[in-house]
Amino acid sequence: MTRFHVCSLSELPSGEAKRVESDPAVAVFNVEGEIFALADQCTHGDASMADGYVEDDCTVECPLHAARFCLRTGKALSQPAYIDLATFPVAVEDGEIYVTVE
Ligand code: FES
Repeated sequence: MTRFHVCSLSELPSGEAKRVESDPAVAVFNVEGEIFALADQCTHGDASMADGYVEDDCTVECPLHAARFCLRTGKALSQPAYIDLATFPVAVEDGEIYVTVE
């Protein structure tokens, strides 16, 4: 289990995502101040979810074939993806974002 420093909260505005070069890589999202961390690689193909489109309903759309995933649970919500994304614990301490990867 390894804990990674992602960035300062101020460096990740709402609606934005950041890729963490961990193993596996993790995509960290800010949706109106709530921080979520999911596996960065789409379960359908070779796309970075950190490059996806964050929606107001707390979902992210894959940039390659537009599958949507729930940011809270990682659940695959639309085809062509049908396998959920892994989720990872995040913490915000003193304005800094951390993610724990197992
Ligand atoms: Fe993400 Fe195809 S690579 S939907």
